Amino acid sequence: MTLSSPPIVLPTPEAMERAVRLLKGGDLVAFPTETVYGLGADAGNERAVRAIFAAKGRPADHPVIVHLADASGAASWAREMPEGARRLADAFWPGPLTLVLPRSPRASDAVTGGQDSVGLRVPAHPVARDLLRAFARAGGSGVAAPSANRFGRISPTTARHVADDMGGDVALILDGGACDVGIESTIVAFDARGAMLLRPGGIAAAELARVLGAAPRIAPAGAPRASGTLASHYAPRTASRLVDAGELAGLIAHDAAEYAVLARTAVRPARIEGSRWIAAPGDPVRYAHDLYANLRSLDAVRAATILIEAVPDDPAWQAVRDRLARATHGDDDDRD
Ligand code: TXA
Ligand code: MG
Repeated sequence: MTLSSPPIVLPTPEAMERAVRLLKGGDLVAFPTETVYGLGADAGNERAVRAIFAAKGRPADHPVIVHLADASGAASWAREMPEGARRLADAFWPGPLTLVLPRSPRASDAVTGGQDSVGLRVPAHPVARDLLRAFARAGGSGVAAPSANRFGRISPTTARHVADDMGGDVALILDGGACDVGIESTIVAFDARGAMLLRPGGIAAAELARVLGAAPRIAPAGAPRASGTLASHYAPRTASRLVDAGELAGLIAHDAAEYAVLARTAVRPARIEGSRWIAAPGDPVRYAHDLYANLRSLDAVRAATILIEAVPDDPAWQAVRDRLARATHGDDDDRD
């Protein structure tokens, strides 16, 4: 929780105009996307982009994604668009896909974290699209935005989450309701060897493979830096553990008062309070949609430990498994 929370406004035409003015003036504006809320700055203004890092408490050498109104904008930020990237863009933009491509001179070191690549995404959320189009009409060419949470914390899927996390450095929060997808975009990088999956997300790997004709290779350790790939990212404050249904039942039977639970198949035993037990949806799309809000609710209970019931070891759950693994990594001191 921070000193003063930024104002939350509905995306009326006046609010959108104000948001564009603020962005053009170098201020930060949080906005909804279909994945999570973004903390936006004019991608062409290095000082504004650097302000994102200060507001998030994030190391300055981490790259941020440039959000574009449409795919044609990619040509000015990337110096080339390999055939595979073009196909993915045609298939999934606007949508929850980020392409990491060789950067053009337009992409500053503040945006790329000093790397030779730039991350680009055309989001599908109508408020994001309206904002990006209005920003383009005002002469802007892209909005740099990481997720609008403090570094290492749970990504926000509502305007209220953003306000709870961010302080007075954020000039405005546009409220577009709860995010549809609920987890971050899939990130695919292209280099001389072709496509590489940097982060599973809103677009399943099987869908990428269908369009590319082959599955993208998986990023090796030491691949281009992605802060969302730090092991302890997306962590609640409460220590969290992944457990199977049997272990969960055993722990609750032993000491129910210790725990808050994100269950999936397990049924709540009477000995654990209702506020400490969330029954998550059984399918991966709805599970992802609710995941970060559920983790925030369980975190707020201030239990000693959050127990998360493991999810199926099946490709449809890949992005959710990735986020759960990060949420349950390490101990309290291990969080950035
Ligand atoms: O769904 C999303 O992608 C959300 C919404 C707001 O668009 N954004 C998001 O941004 O998740 P962020 O900064 O929290 O995570 C973006 C990830 C980071 O791990 C960053 O390091 C990586 O994308 N990334 C951005 N540009 C990159 C580049 N040039 N090379 C490698 N990784 C890059
Ligand atoms: Mg993030």
